[in-house]
Parts: sequence; structure tokens; C-alpha cells
Amino acid sequence: MRLENKVCIVTGSSSGIGKAIAESYAREGATVVVTYNNNKDGAVETAKNCNTDLVYHLDVRDSQQIVDVFADVAQKTGGVDVLVNNAGVNKTNDFDKLSEEDWDFVLDVNLKGVFLCCQKILPHMNEGGSIINIGSLSGEYGGPRTPSYAAAKAGVMSLTHCLARFVGDRKIRVNCLSPGVIGNEFTAKSMAPDVRKLVDNLLLLKHLGTVEDMTGAAVFLASDESSYMTAQTMSINGGAWV
Ligand SMILES: NC(=O)c1ccc[n+]([C@@H]2O[C@H](COP(=O)([O-])OP(=O)(O)OC[C@H]3O[C@@H](n4cnc5c(N)ncnc54)[C@H](OP(=O)(O)O)[C@@H]3O)[C@@H](O)[C@H]2O)c1
Repeated sequence: MRLENKVCIVTGSSSGIGKAIAESYAREGATVVVTYNNNKDGAVETAKNCNTDLVYHLDVRDSQQIVDVFADVAQKTGGVDVLVNNAGVNKTNDFDKLSEEDWDFVLDVNLKGVFLCCQKILPHMNEGGSIINIGSLSGEYGGPRTPSYAAAKAGVMSLTHCLARFVGDRKIRVNCLSPGVIGNEFTAKSMAPDVRKLVDNLLLLKHLGTVEDMTGAAVFLASDESSYMTAQTMSINGGAWV
């Protein structure tokens, strides 16, 4: 198995992409740490599927909570090998209508949350560890009606480069996994009116992705197979031709 003896934290693994990644890590032999914000039932289900009892409430906007959770994980496991910064939210609106409150909310979770988790994991990361920040197609090209989300995800790519420079000499790798449009609840809530146009006009493969489409790359980036890869963005998006 490709992740045997690795301790892997996946933030926001109560549903969607995070859940699928957590479960794929468990299938590859990892000890998985599941975190959630509101959806405790979802997290418990993920943990059951991952055969782990390491389940934590973790709001990525709360630095003290991050410090406490990561310290507890490290104390129980001896150190962390993989952190997937997956937790994310979206608020869709036209550029001229987006409220300051919604801007702050999305930036706090999607960018500041990634910064805080990256910073607070460092004392607990084993040499050879891997940090995977979940970006987005929107962060690469700008998103339809998602200015805060796209800006935050572009920031995540930049943060990935900054941290990769900082931790390279510790042999810690930092990469960004950038999904395209995934056909789940998140998509339905945030982008529904734009999805059909996007699929027809912009995707070379002419269909939406699934959460399972993200797991192959997520396992690769977590595993030693990608040991010479850092500061990169892997785009898994059906050939988005923007
Ligand atoms: N779906 C797509 O098309 C798509 C495309 C590109 C990128 N992405 C990115 O992929 C990631 C996962 O998205 P998804 O589609 O799987 O959405 P999802 O099913 O809504 O999952 C989002 C996860 O983030 C967690 N979360 C939200 N706010 C949080 C907070 N303040 N602190 C900690 N956790 C929080 C949620 O936890 P609770 O439910 O427990 O509150 C949930 O587990 C996000 O970063 C998203 O931006 C998604």
C-alpha cells in the first residue's frame, strides 16, 4: 500500500472531496485524521469508513483550535506526514454586488485558514512530509460570479510557493491540487447556472468531474512517488480550456 505508516490529516473531510480523499488514504494504508466544522455526522461516517477514531471539530479560522488539534494528533501518533488543506466555502455573486461580509468570510476560510493550518502544522511535520493545498480552476482563471473565491484560491497557489521555499530544506513538499468543476452539492449551491455552459464550451472531456477523480492525484502527492515534486499545481479539470 502506498501510504502505509503515514499519518494524514484532511481538513473538511466530513463531505465531498475531503471525504473521498480521506477514504482513499485509508484504502492505501494511512492513519487518517478526519476534521469537520458543522457536519459531525458526516465526519463520523468518514471516520468509520477510514477505520479511525481520530475525529476532531476544527474551524480553520480558529488558530488556537488548530494548535490544540494538531498537538493532540501529534501526541497520539508521534508526528504528521501529510496535511491536506481541503476545507473551503463559496459565496457566489456578481463582482459589483458581492458584500464585504461575504468577501471576508470566503477569504477567512479559504486563504487565512490554509495559512494558519500550514503554519501550525510545521512543528509536528515529519521530514519527508507533504502538504497539499486544494486550489481551484477559479484560482487559475477567475471564476464566473466568484471573485472572493477565485482570489482566495489564487492566493492558495501563491502560499503554496511561499511555504515550499520555506520548508524545502526540511524535505517537506508543498503542492496545490486544483480541481475543476465537481458534480456535487457544493457545485449545485454555488455555480449551478454556469455549469452547463462551462461543460459544453470549456471542458475538453465534456463532463463534470467527480470527487473520486481527485483521489488518484491526492494519493500521488501524499506518497513518496512524488518525492521530487514541490511548489507545483496539479490541475485535474477535464481539460478546462478557458
Ligand atoms: N466542488 C467543486 O467543484 C470544487 C472545485 C474546485 C475546488 N473545490 C475545493 O475543494 C474543497 C472541498 O470542496 P467540496 O466541493 O468537497 O465542498 P463540501 O462538500 O462543501 O466540503 C467542504 C468542507 O469544508 C469544510 N468547512 C467549511 N467551512 C469550514 C471551516 N470554517 N473550518 C473547517 N472546515 C470547514 C466543511 O465542513 P462541514 O460541512 O463539517 O462544516 C466540509 O467538510 C474546497 O476547498 C473547494 O474550494 C471544489
